[in-house]
Amino acid sequence: MNVTRGYPQPVGVLISPSVLNSDLARLADEVGRIAQAADFVHLDVMDNHFVPNLTFGLPVIESLLRDCPVPADCHLMIADPDRWAPAYAEAGAASVTFHVEAAQNPVAICGSIRSAGARAGVAVKPGTDVEDLADLLPCLDMILVMTVEPGFGGQSFMTDMLPKIRRARALADASGTDVWIQVDGGIDVSNIERCADAGASIFVAGSAVFRDPDPSAMIERLRALANRASTR
Ligand code: DX5
Ligand code: ZN
Repeated sequence: MNVTRGYPQPVGVLISPSVLNSDLARLADEVGRIAQAADFVHLDVMDNHFVPNLTFGLPVIESLLRDCPVPADCHLMIADPDRWAPAYAEAGAASVTFHVEAAQNPVAICGSIRSAGARAGVAVKPGTDVEDLADLLPCLDMILVMTVEPGFGGQSFMTDMLPKIRRARALADASGTDVWIQVDGGIDVSNIERCADAGASIFVAGSAVFRDPDPSAMIERLRALANRASTR
């Protein structure tokens, strides 16, 4: 896999396992368990303000990224991304995604993430229209369509988000930019093909991977299913 500053060149779909439901007391070891098979590791930063949960913040991410064997895909579920998002890119994240619902100046945030050498992503909660991102597309490298309410792993996939994934793909294609569509929340072998068919090309899977006795094999199984159904 050709891994440039932080992220693989897209050759088919990408799998970004979330560590949220892994053993966070052994975070680096858990990342090591998926590093060979995964394209990214998905790191859910939660501040107990934007979402009703608290995980880890910049000091933990800085330590982890000093010696991380796989590109980091940081998902910031925080109340002040204008202030904090650039620092995750400066810490060495390959991709930094913030929520449009929390941003004061998303264009500026995207610019500072990109200037720090990372890909810029914007996430939308289930209740936010993806059309709200239309003007942002030239600044974006990725749209994250949440398929659960953000805050916790292990929730059930929201099938009513499938049309939204399709709209996000259509919006990105119409913009003429190479914007990836990421899905996150309840992704597993029962729904990943429908998400790929709807236009997603990068998939976050937390419980499906870390609850499996062989996380690497599950990553490969998810990738094979998504590639078979992918419309890209
Ligand atoms: C939820 C997080 C997701 C979650 C995914 O707010 O953004 O990344 O950890 O975990 P699963 O795949 O278990 O839903
Ligand atoms: Zn996430």
